[in-house]
Amino acid sequence: MDFSKEEIAPLASIEEWEQDVLQRYPEPHKSKDEFRNYENPQRDTVREFYRLNHTYQTFDFVQSKRAEFLKFDKKEMPIWEAFDFLNTLVDDSDPDIELDQWQHLLQTSEAIRADGHPDWFVLTGLLHDMGKVLCLFGEPQWAVVGDTFPVGCKHSDKIVYPEFFEANPDTKHPIYGTEYGIYEPHCGLDSVYMSWGHDEYLYQMVKDYLPEPALYMIRYHSFYAQHREHAYEHLLNEHDRDMFKWVKLFNPYDLYSKAPVPPDTKALKSYYEDLLAKYLPPTLKF
Ligand SMILES: [Fe+2]
Ligand SMILES: [Fe+2]
Repeated sequence: MDFSKEEIAPLASIEEWEQDVLQRYPEPHKSKDEFRNYENPQRDTVREFYRLNHTYQTFDFVQSKRAEFLKFDKKEMPIWEAFDFLNTLVDDSDPDIELDQWQHLLQTSEAIRADGHPDWFVLTGLLHDMGKVLCLFGEPQWAVVGDTFPVGCKHSDKIVYPEFFEANPDTKHPIYGTEYGIYEPHCGLDSVYMSWGHDEYLYQMVKDYLPEPALYMIRYHSFYAQHREHAYEHLLNEHDRDMFKWVKLFNPYDLYSKAPVPPDTKALKSYYEDLLAKYLPPTLKF
């Protein structure tokens, strides 16, 4: 499928999606007033972003992206180089974006480290958005970021902007449009296809290297309809419910780790080099 320039990049930068999530789920003790300055023009671009996401993320679209990207034949890079590559994703046109990708990853991992969590949890913080390199392969923003949701069954009205699913052909599909669709009750998320984006892509890239809770955090960190709204309990099994404790634990680090003073990359480099070497091979295939 070919998309126009406007359809590929409805947002000034992919950070707009995260800012929208932050407004939807503000840090509990902070008042909404602090986010008011964000109320205006971005709202329209975020709306358009979700319209495209909800319209085009069909079951078939997901299968085609899996076939295209899970071959991991695009690029092979040392992980440190991959961070640099990801960081070319900065968007200077948006003055509200004060953090680059690398700083977001490092602030997330440092906040997790400061709370004394296991090293693989810290590593998860450092890696969790690496899948956003999809943008650098020319992928539409709505196929890289955005809330994720199961495909192949009915869309929950707890997903943000549910009205935009009207335009998704799966909504009227005789199977995909039903409550369970192609799935069985409590089949477990491992057999559920999620909308395509940076979460599933990175999960598939690192699934052989990290402990299971880390993999759940990576794979489902944008699945707000479940970890915040519990809209897909009917597909989860006992094991998923157990593992989602980790997904919930991870989410505030992702959303709210904004340190007043950015971490000093140089000072931290050797710690993170050792941590990466402990769990991951020297290069990753993208
Ligand atoms: Fe993310
Ligand atoms: Fe993130």
